[in-house]
Amino acid sequence: MPRDATPRRYLMCPPAHFKVTYSINPWMDPAKPVDLPLALAQWEDLRDRYRSLGHTVELLEPQEELPDMVYAANGATVIDGRVLGARFAHAEREPEAGAHLDWFRANGFARIHEPVHINEGEGDFAVTASCLLAGRGFRSSPLSHAEAQEFFCRPVIGLDLVDPRYYHLDTALCVLDDAGDEIMYYPDAFSAGSRSVLARLFPDALIADEQAAAEFGLNAVSDGRHVLLPQSAVGLFDPLRDRGFEPIGMDLSELLKGGGSVKCCTQELRGQELPGQGLGI
Ligand code: ARG
Repeated sequence: MPRDATPRRYLMCPPAHFKVTYSINPWMDPAKPVDLPLALAQWEDLRDRYRSLGHTVELLEPQEELPDMVYAANGATVIDGRVLGARFAHAEREPEAGAHLDWFRANGFARIHEPVHINEGEGDFAVTASCLLAGRGFRSSPLSHAEAQEFFCRPVIGLDLVDPRYYHLDTALCVLDDAGDEIMYYPDAFSAGSRSVLARLFPDALIADEQAAAEFGLNAVSDGRHVLLPQSAVGLFDPLRDRGFEPIGMDLSELLKGGGSVKCCTQELRGQELPGQGLGI
């Protein structure tokens, strides 16, 4: 049975100044050249694909001295119009947090929390219908999980990442249906205890294999029906179709050189807070 898509609002940042000059994850090799025009064209394809599916894409101004800014998912987490700002683990990316906060302030978001603890936004927070899944081990601090729970008033499930190639939660797990708690993930990226937690909470999850994970197939974005993912993650296409999803392969090979793909480039802006409905936090 085909699934229903729901219109989404995304925040993206064009890779106008994208380059790999430092290495903060195993995918980044400053010795490997980046084809900037190709990176831009691939990113534009993703942006245009979202728009053609009926989604809204907002744009963040790229800054020359911040080559990783294209990975907009890391800059904040937004649920019910409430914005939890980011705080980056590495000095190289630190100023991105302020650029995101400025954007939210200029765009009518009133409930903004500047974090005390390190969290890399949707890189490590994934939103399901019933909870917030939260990665830790490489970037976001476990202390940020409690901070997120308090701010969003949603239960947070902490998950331990153990493989440096999958340093953010969104490189190893993707929410396919955020109305029905359906996910896909790569078990080997997680500790034994976290694997058991995932199996207990999501017994029907789509399990990705090593090949799909290594192609960044879990770094995907779903609108409830269409699942945009790297086109090279071929092993996921049929399992997604079997569940009624429509996989859409994207080529983001240049952005993989920085250790990111579809999801990393896409921050979801969930819900506008309605007047009078704030929790006053
Ligand atoms: N080079 C960036 C970093 O290491 C890539 C971030 C990818 N973003 C993501 N949401 N996983 O921080």
